[in-house]
Amino acid sequence: MPEVDVQSQEIHHQDQHSEVFNPPAHISERAWVKSYNEYKNNYDASMDEQFYAGIAREFHWEKPFTQILDYNFSRKKGRVFVEWFKDGTTNVAYNCLDRNLNANRGDKIAFFYEGNEPTETNSITYKQLHEQVVDFSSVLRNMGVRRGHCVAIYMPMVVEIVVAMLACARIGAIHSVVFGGFSAESLANRILDSQARVLITTDGVFRGPKPVELKKCCDDACRIVNQQLTAGYNGIEKMVVYQRLGAEHLKLKEWVDGRDIWWHDAIKQIDRTIAPPAVEWMNAEDPLFMLYTSGSTGKPKGLVHTTGGYMVTAATTFKYVFDYHDQDIYFCTADCGWITGHTYLCYGPLLNGATSVLFEGIPTYPDESRCWRMIDRYNVTQFYTAPTAIRALMRFGDDKVTQTSTRNTLRILGSVGEPINPEAWMWYHRVVGNSNCAIVDTYWQTETGGIMITSQPGAVPTKPGSASVPFYGVVPAVMRKKSDQSEDLVLDNTDEQFKQDEFYEESQVEAEGYLVIKRPWPGLARTIYGDHGRYEETYFSMFDGYYATGDGCRRDKDGYYWLTGRIDDVLNVSGHRIGTAEVESALVGHKSIAEAAVVPMPHEIKGQGIYAYVTTKEGIVGDEALRAQLKSTVRVALGPIATPDVIHFTPSLPKTRSGKIMRRILRKIAEGLDSVSQLGDVSTLADPSVVDMLLKNK
Ligand code: PRX
Repeated sequence: MPEVDVQSQEIHHQDQHSEVFNPPAHISERAWVKSYNEYKNNYDASMDEQFYAGIAREFHWEKPFTQILDYNFSRKKGRVFVEWFKDGTTNVAYNCLDRNLNANRGDKIAFFYEGNEPTETNSITYKQLHEQVVDFSSVLRNMGVRRGHCVAIYMPMVVEIVVAMLACARIGAIHSVVFGGFSAESLANRILDSQARVLITTDGVFRGPKPVELKKCCDDACRIVNQQLTAGYNGIEKMVVYQRLGAEHLKLKEWVDGRDIWWHDAIKQIDRTIAPPAVEWMNAEDPLFMLYTSGSTGKPKGLVHTTGGYMVTAATTFKYVFDYHDQDIYFCTADCGWITGHTYLCYGPLLNGATSVLFEGIPTYPDESRCWRMIDRYNVTQFYTAPTAIRALMRFGDDKVTQTSTRNTLRILGSVGEPINPEAWMWYHRVVGNSNCAIVDTYWQTETGGIMITSQPGAVPTKPGSASVPFYGVVPAVMRKKSDQSEDLVLDNTDEQFKQDEFYEESQVEAEGYLVIKRPWPGLARTIYGDHGRYEETYFSMFDGYYATGDGCRRDKDGYYWLTGRIDDVLNVSGHRIGTAEVESALVGHKSIAEAAVVPMPHEIKGQGIYAYVTTKEGIVGDEALRAQLKSTVRVALGPIATPDVIHFTPSLPKTRSGKIMRRILRKIAEGLDSVSQLGDVSTLADPSVVDMLLKNK
């Protein structure tokens, strides 16, 4: 790590055009980490596993751990595994709630809640949240949920989603939250994979002006599940429905007696003469939750996060990256359906006894100033959102921000989900932050559990567009190709076999290549639910001994990381991961379609859009009506976020002689390149004339 001279207000960097922003003095003064040198000293200290052991001991352990870390990242040496604090027992929900009650935070507000309408406001203290969690854990227990069982959650952003997650954690059940915007089919697949018997949902919710029927989607999902039952698995046996809307808004079309129960009725039925279930003391390596995410092939994978390590990563990253102090009010716009909602809405803040704003609505309803008004209303000190939201809100002009709010309480602005373009970064800094806040661009993944690369707000100078430097305990490395650096980093499925020995770990500071991580940090997902082989294959086979992130990056002279995007067949649409294979499989599910190939395309707001090339079956004409049908097919199969932006009908797809689709060419055409000379080597195509056809049909 090169030295950065914060005092001299300067960083020595290669790119003369990019500005460097030093941490504002008023932030450094009160920050946990006040200077680059302090960050660097802590970082060096974090290379010793005692660093995280010390932090872990600040939490309650029913049985203290004596072992800190054991792991193997090399398949050549045997099974890949990671174990932190292995022989200790603890409970994450206990540390989120009871530990705060014991520290006199019972009356502190855990969440300010704001619903879809700005008039729907509420708040809940740590004591009240604790009571609700204990009650709901009784409900779950009465339904037969036991330690190690999986519970599926499909809810909007109401306080009860956090209650449901923590109630699971309290009794040792594994929660699997499925984003409320996913389709019934996606929900069904996730239920089937996890074998959940209990599903928690709401009758519905308004997203902006639009009603969304969550319960109906659950009913449909249950029907799909019931068609695919296996020995010993009877599908969803209990569905708990939180009443968010009530009868006046949505008529429930279906109610299965014996299976479905209102949340409030279930609470009423608790037998108060019996003690509620005791806290289940979990081994540090027992699963806390699973969360599905898209990969480059096949169906989404259920990443499993465990108890001790995840708890420590969530708490530590939250404290330092958002520089959280006791009086702060933190606002994260993420939905609990994604990892950001798990780590930085639920677990990280609660483990720090924080007060957060929990927002059900969307940033553009009732108008585009919603978030800025909320920042003033709650005196928000840290705001965390995604570049796609920043870009979307930026379009409405500065007045929507400056004329409706002062945002004077803000100190820290966070960004997550995709690279933030310098223009959006500057707007976030100048307009939202009044040029007086620190921006933290946080790079991480569902798999990593918590933030991996970022600047700490009081300590590390920032460069717009760079996530900057590794967090404590994170050792990134850049794998570089021996031969040619000018080649596109993106893997093409025409690459015969990915050849490890063509790569080496760059020891120079300046480097460009594949981003890998060299050793385990506590929050790394330990496995893919039910498929450890796929876990090893996906993350540890590309470079033996390293965790492969799936991202490309450049490391500059100052050791700053600039993420350049996925190198595999994963799209990042509005910060959400979508596998090209999933969209393709939905498209070929349509009776008129023979083949499909999906690639990313640049999109001003979403970062990446979805560009689908399709060939129709013999005799079928690709017209507007079919286009609309295909979009709707994908929406039904996967959910609205996966809807293709462009459907490009083509008589055939560019293939190699061995029959593999050359996506490199398709990606370039989707990016707007329109002459054969710009498409690179096309000589390995079985039929090079396909390229002309593709360009002509654009
Ligand atoms: O490509 C990277 C991108 O999002 C991917 C992870 O997506 P997901 O698991 O859904 O988690 C998103 C929220 C943590 C990464 O592989 N990504 C995420 N954050 C950044 C980013 N790319 C660049 N800069 C970021 N700050």
